[in-house]
Order: sequence, then C-alpha cells, then structure tokens
Amino acid sequence: MNAESILEEHIDIIDREIKKVFESRDFPRELYDMMKYHLGWVDENLEPVERYKGKRFRPTMCLLAYHSLAGVYNKALPAAASIELIHNFSLIHDDIEDRDETRRGKPTVWKHFGVEHAINAGDGMHVLANLAALRLQEVDVADAKIIDVLKILSNTVMKLCEGQYLDMGFENKMDVDIDLYLKMVYRKTAALIEASFWIGAMLATDNKVKIRHFRRFGRNIGIAFQIVDDIIGIWSSKTGKPRASDIRNKKKTLPVIYAISKASREDRAFIQKIYSKKELMSDKEVEKVLALLEKVKAREFSIETARKYEISALQEFDSLGIKNPSLEKIISLSKFLITRSY
Ligand code: IPE
Ligand code: MG
Ligand code: MG
Repeated sequence: MNAESILEEHIDIIDREIKKVFESRDFPRELYDMMKYHLGWVDENLEPVERYKGKRFRPTMCLLAYHSLAGVYNKALPAAASIELIHNFSLIHDDIEDRDETRRGKPTVWKHFGVEHAINAGDGMHVLANLAALRLQEVDVADAKIIDVLKILSNTVMKLCEGQYLDMGFENKMDVDIDLYLKMVYRKTAALIEASFWIGAMLATDNKVKIRHFRRFGRNIGIAFQIVDDIIGIWSSKTGKPRASDIRNKKKTLPVIYAISKASREDRAFIQKIYSKKELMSDKEVEKVLALLEKVKAREFSIETARKYEISALQEFDSLGIKNPSLEKIISLSKFLITRSY
C-alpha cells in the first residue's frame, strides 16, 4: 500500500474525532473559524473545503502503532486527535514567529486574520488539544493511563517551546554547532513525533521494551523528518512556502550550519556579515549563500545525515521482532516522509 493511500485511509476518522471538540462551540464564531481555516476545513472565504492539505501523519502513526500491537484502535483515537491539534496550534504560532506568509499553499492565519487573532486561535487550539485527550475517558481507558498520556503530552509541548526558543535564538547566533542543532530539532519537531508513537504503543501494551522501541523509532524518524524539512526549506517550494524562505529568514538549518563549519575563512566571514545584518537578505545575498552551500555540498551532507537517522529508526523495528501489516505501513509512510523532496 502506498503512503498516500495510507494517509487517505485515516484522515476522515481522525478529522471526525477532532471535530468532536468543536461541537457546540460557536461563539465567537470567528475564533473557531480561524482554527477551522488552519485545519483546512474551510477556505479564505470560510466556505467548506473538499480536500484537506495537512498530511495528518502524526495521528496516523499513533493509530498504526496502536494497531500493530493491539488491533482495533478506537481507544487511541482521542490521543491521535490531540496530537494533531498540538501540531496545528504550534504551526499557527510558528508562522507568526517565522514571519511566514504562506502555509500549505494558502495565507497563514496571522497573515489572513492578523497576529493578535492568530495568537488567540493558537492558544485556543492548544486547549482543545487537552480536551481532545480527555475524551480518552469516553473510550474507557483507565484513569491512570489517561494521566500518563496527559503527562507525556504536556512534557512534549514544553519540549516544543524549548525547541522553538532555541530555533528563534539561532537566527542571531553564529556559533551554532551540529550538536546544538540536534538538541533544537529533537525538541521542536521530533519530540511530538516520538510522542505519537509512544502514546500509540503505551495505550496498546504495558510492555516497556516494546514501548521503548516505538519511542526511539519516532525520535529518529522525527529528526530525519526535520532535516528533510530543512532541505525543502531551501531547495524546494513543496510545502507551499516560497523557495529559500529559510535562508531569507536567516534560519540556522543543518545545511547552513554545515556550510559555516566547512567554509573557507573568507567565505565564513562573508556569511557572518550578511547573517548579522539587521535588514532582510536581498535576492543577491540569498543567491550567494546558495552558491556557498553548493560549494561545500551542504545538500548532500544533509541528505546523508537524514538517511543515517532513518537507518537508526529502522533498526528499532528490527529489534522489536514483530512483523505485521500495520508495522509495514509505518515503515512505508516513514520512507515517504523522508524522501518527499528529492
Ligand atoms: C511541518 O509538519 C512542520 C514540521 C515539523 C517540519 P508537516 O509536514 O507534518 O505539516 P502538515 O500538517 O502536513 O502540513
Ligand atoms: Mg516555520
Ligand atoms: Mg519555525
């Protein structure tokens, strides 16, 4: 089964669950409309949309992890919905912080409705994520497990904040090394992907060894995923964002950090000069940075690094010692996520 059909198979089930926390919340309507717009249910004119643009891969992974260990996954659905809401609330805020004007090919929430409203929409969606997780009570998950899930989710959102803090700080920091970069991407991106697998597995089993393998799979695939996102952020406009937007925003993504570490003294001084300027980067400067990345083969290095994390992730499943269609789906979806751009 190919990755697109795996996602297709789960999206309606996930969105139906997410919609439950929106039920009978309709005042002020505009607040919820912003959230529905971001979730891809309505367009700029607030008209219903046929096809969603978000992949919903985190909740899909959570459900597949559960299914691979315990069968029918309705007991994991509230947690899966919560994870997707956390992801989306963090993106509403991330687009403000990154000053990005488009996401999934459409204007970002702040761009379309204003920054103040976008902050409230993001905060509201965070609360809805907690309420979605509390719906675990309705599918008869034991209270002790629900508390464990809530604890994981809160720790994960805290990690996300730590990661976003580091990411923003890196814009004005020249001495970011790969080690610090990895600490940042684990927090801002991989932690939530890790939590998706972790929660899916721990709702399905009490076997700590199995849970740990799923967790580690998620963490490694999550890091690989963010490195690929870094590559896309420079060399492709597939995410619906303009080409080289991460360069323009002076993001210290893996290709840039690597290039700084490999550049000649002269080239490094040049990068330092344009990255420390207050003004936005000009088109000419962006082109020059791209040429420097090319010179040290930063793209190749980044692809190779992502592959290493993918291999580490797959080893976790080798050690798990089980084989079934859901696990195969997880593997095929993971491959798709990290080869989506090259
Ligand atoms: C984008 O995540 C943000 C990152 C963590 C890199 P996704 O690529 O999962 O975004 P959507 O929800 O499918 O648009
Ligand atoms: Mg961003
Ligand atoms: Mg960001």
